[in-house]
Amino acid sequence: MSQILEASLPLYGGYVLSRADGVVFLKGAIPGEKVEAEITEKKRDYSLALVREVHEPSPHRVEPRCPAFGLCGGCHYQHVSYAGQLQMKEAVLRDLLKRIGKIETPIDATIESAPWHYRKRVRFKVSRAGKLGFYRPLSHDVVEVEHCYLIDRSLNLILERINSTGLPEGVKELLIQSGDLVVARVYGEKYVRSEVEKVLAGSGITGVLFDHEGGEEVRSCLDLNGKYYCVTPGAFFQSNWELNRRVVSMISNDISNIAPGKVVDFYAGGGNFSIPISEATREVVAVEQSELSYGDAIYNMEINGIDNVKYIQSPVE
Ligand SMILES: C[S@@+](CC[C@H](N)C(=O)[O-])C[C@H]1O[C@@H](n2cnc3c(N)ncnc32)[C@H](O)[C@@H]1O
Repeated sequence: MSQILEASLPLYGGYVLSRADGVVFLKGAIPGEKVEAEITEKKRDYSLALVREVHEPSPHRVEPRCPAFGLCGGCHYQHVSYAGQLQMKEAVLRDLLKRIGKIETPIDATIESAPWHYRKRVRFKVSRAGKLGFYRPLSHDVVEVEHCYLIDRSLNLILERINSTGLPEGVKELLIQSGDLVVARVYGEKYVRSEVEKVLAGSGITGVLFDHEGGEEVRSCLDLNGKYYCVTPGAFFQSNWELNRRVVSMISNDISNIAPGKVVDFYAGGGNFSIPISEATREVVAVEQSELSYGDAIYNMEINGIDNVKYIQSPVE
């Protein structure tokens, strides 16, 4: 069933709000556009819809670079100019701060970075044929991809190599991250581990973790403005690393100017902020829930010789 809708407020996840008979979350629209959209799912309080035709395009509408865009749900904004993407993301952040955080504040810095090939971490789905891809939007069908314009070039090389052989049966997802080493985490069931290891070793991946099989330590490390930042595959880290380095230095400069005696870093991950901030204050207290990230944080403090960060593994709340 399709409907003519007007796109208004951008929302998290690439959706744009539309209010017709009820609330509709539109996929593939840009604020201000009039579109024809197909309702793909009806829930009690809202519907999900996919744009089929644009009747009144936004000045920010551009031709997507990737031929799979729209078919593949791996990214959300290729139909929007980079300037338009920044505006949409800023509006999303303002909305989240207001609705969830009850904070109304101007955002005084929007930092630009490379729009393509910037991601250092990717979590692929695996098709029945063993090829890597992403879910089709609003579905669990895997769209195989040959190249991804968002991930960095070393990850694309590995994507190409793995797809040339394919992964053995039973592997459902593959997380790959690049740093000094390219490492991976395998998710799935009933796969033959040695067969998976053979394919991954041939692709250039040097360290592999198999989900639900603990024991080994596998990390890849990145330069965090002169310090090491090492991450286990599966633990969170900022995937746009160049942008992250700039954000981190902005924040640590601000903290140096304030020169507080103590800083608390909630949701601290592997120490992305705590590591640089430790130089600008006497003591940092960092709180992080995940066991993986906590393990990385302890490792990172040690290899950087930092002893004034007190890490607590706990929920913040
Ligand atoms: C978006 S990441 C940011 C991590 C880090 N600050 C960074 O910039 O890389 C959010 C982190 O919060 C952690 N987290 C999520 N919910 C939490 C909670 N309730 N209490 C503590 N940590 C939590 C996650 O494990 C994750 O490491």
